[in-house]
Amino acid sequence: MQSLFCYSRQRLFGHNAKCRFISENRLQIRPQSISHRRNGGSKRIIVAVTGATGSPLAVTLLQRLRELGVETHLILSKWGGATLKYELDAPNNTPRYLESLASVVYSPMDVSASISSGSFRTDGMIVVPCSMKTLAGIRMGYDSDLIVRAASVTLKERRRLVLVARETPLSTIHLENMLEVTKANAVIFPPVMAFYTRPDSVQDMVDQSVLRMIDMLDLKLVGEQENEDIRWTGFDWKGKKETK
Ligand SMILES: Cc1cc2nc3c(=O)[nH]c(=O)nc-3n(C[C@H](O)[C@H](O)[C@H](O)COP(=O)(O)O)c2cc1C
Repeated sequence: MQSLFCYSRQRLFGHNAKCRFISENRLQIRPQSISHRRNGGSKRIIVAVTGATGSPLAVTLLQRLRELGVETHLILSKWGGATLKYELDAPNNTPRYLESLASVVYSPMDVSASISSGSFRTDGMIVVPCSMKTLAGIRMGYDSDLIVRAASVTLKERRRLVLVARETPLSTIHLENMLEVTKANAVIFPPVMAFYTRPDSVQDMVDQSVLRMIDMLDLKLVGEQENEDIRWTGFDWKGKKETK
């Protein structure tokens, strides 16, 4: 039904009008073609957000990707939306806010979407955060929603898939699922905090984790975003000797 509506809207507004599915099944028109890369030669990344704790990671990643000019295709699960609302402060804790950071937005139920097909070329996908449920679906190839379907497509097309899998502690089921998707070439990227960066705040930890996610997606931060302070360069042995 949504697809038919989308098709008729495209006929009304021309082929460059892009249907935009919003999580509460609202529909908007986006005046851009998704068959061509909006930013010419730069990257196109699918970002899926599921109901594990960690929505600040998704917000910061989308902000950074937007600053980098990356074309982002967002899928937010129902529980991803609920967690977002619970974990962040208003007004930046709504699906609408998250969607405003993305280039294109899809309903998780719309398996007819472009990103359901390998013929729609992307430079990879990240699920951030990734619940154990979505991890299990990806491991089994159980493509019942657009998030798992797009992840399956990413794997079969031999593109980069990063799963910011979050749970603790882990059962053998979780660990086996992680091992199997890793064998299929996915990257399991638990959002584990680092202390060697001497973080002052939760946001510092989020920033460091997001920087590493961007590395995993084979993207590069530029200018001030590339803060070398949060990259490890080894102990300052020389400095230490001098203080003795
Ligand atoms: C506040 C909150 C935090 C949650 N944290 C986690 C978590 O860290 N890891 C996880 O696997 N599931 C977590 N869940 C449970 C998932 O939301 C639930 O399994 C859901 O079905 C996942 O569906 P989705 O993958 O389609 O978003 C959490 C749920 C809530 C409400």
